[in-house]
Amino acid sequence: MAMMVPEYGLGALYGFEEMEAIALALQQDGYEGGGILREFEREFCEYTGAKHAIGTVSGTMALHMAAHVLDLGPGDEVVCTPQTFQATMLPFLGRKVGVRFADIEPETLCIDPATIEAQITPRTKAIYVMHYGGLPCDMEPIMRIAKKHRLPVVEDAAHAPGADCRGRKIGSIGDLTCFSFGSLKNMTTLGRGGMVTTNDDHYAERLRNMRGRGFGGRRMKRRTTSIGPYAKPDPPYSDHSGDAYTHDWPEITEAGMNIPMTGAEAACGRVQLRKLDRMNGIRRDLARIYSEGLTAIEGVRVQPVTEGRHSIYHLYPFFINQSATGVNHDDLIRGLEARGVRINNRFFPCHVSGYMRAQGHRFGECPVIERVWFEEQVNLPISPLHTPAQMRYVVEQAAALIAELREAGARARLRKTAPGGAAAKPQRGAAKPRRGARAAKARGKR
Ligand SMILES: Cc1ncc(COP(=O)(O)O)c(C=O)c1O
Repeated sequence: MAMMVPEYGLGALYGFEEMEAIALALQQDGYEGGGILREFEREFCEYTGAKHAIGTVSGTMALHMAAHVLDLGPGDEVVCTPQTFQATMLPFLGRKVGVRFADIEPETLCIDPATIEAQITPRTKAIYVMHYGGLPCDMEPIMRIAKKHRLPVVEDAAHAPGADCRGRKIGSIGDLTCFSFGSLKNMTTLGRGGMVTTNDDHYAERLRNMRGRGFGGRRMKRRTTSIGPYAKPDPPYSDHSGDAYTHDWPEITEAGMNIPMTGAEAACGRVQLRKLDRMNGIRRDLARIYSEGLTAIEGVRVQPVTEGRHSIYHLYPFFINQSATGVNHDDLIRGLEARGVRINNRFFPCHVSGYMRAQGHRFGECPVIERVWFEEQVNLPISPLHTPAQMRYVVEQAAALIAELREAGARARLRKTAPGGAAAKPQRGAAKPRRGARAAKARGKR
């Protein structure tokens, strides 16, 4: 029976627990909900094993905050994965930071540690990785390389709350880890939100200063506590003078931005955090149905399930071997869509995006992601609101479609090789080449 399988399952991700917690937060929310946010941050630290957690308005802002405390600026460079959402790039573009792209592991879509060192130059200020679809990057070699070159590692963990790498939760490993709690993420704080975690006290202090309305930088004690002829009020009253009577600030490195998560969002986050392992478990169970079904199809591979790196399946990609099967990648995507399966392939390789081409980046820079993206990768729908029956339907449709496309490809090859076949002499009105074939031809020209 035909089915529609939307990108995200139907229904609400929130239950009465969230509604109750938010209602309580609204009643307590006297001053910017600070107490509830502190509780959420403490629980997030407990969950991830990070020393500090700083809640903010979005994952994009978390990435900006990380770039800010690393003092990234014009002339600096970072080494980064090309397989990520453009939000990872925004702090670089805004700060005129050069990006050197490493390549990816074709099996996982995460940065390939073996390709990082070749991109490190004297200008490199940080290594940026992204845990693709909730599958952790291979953090051990990445941290070893970073240590050798004395570089901080920033993790874009928008997809990875609850994922773990060799027994350590994401959030506790790199120097700065940026989470997103947007509406479609594995956990959400009323549809928008983010968090930076760090084990470094200095980064944490700077992050809190910029997140609030404080300053950061060098502070010097004054010799007198008067401003002109006016002495510091004694006893003091609330005058918003901060420490102006007692300190001078010769060097301001932070101008506060007032970007904390609200109390109601934090209250929602606390409940979602308690549900996170269960929601991730549902995703894992659904992913298992996909993986078992898809690996039985010849010419198809899926992300590996390894001992040390455990995905929480924010996304579910699988891969078709286009050249071995003769199944055109683009036809497969269009065919699945025609059978009711919503495909949203993510992410177009950053180095060939328009904004990175404008910085001089080109096709050919990262051959692995280019092959995987243009020829192999297909992202299937997954969320805790999908059902096992939907996953089984998708597998059945994929298997039937691949068999159909294989056969059609084989018939076309036969026609081509037959004496006087269609390919030998193009017919008037013959079908135009498929989009994938046209794209490949165009790529060859560039
Ligand atoms: C990999 C990645 N990084 C960062 C972000 C940005 O997060 P937010 O939408 O919370 O700003 C996203 C959002 O989808 C993402 O997928």
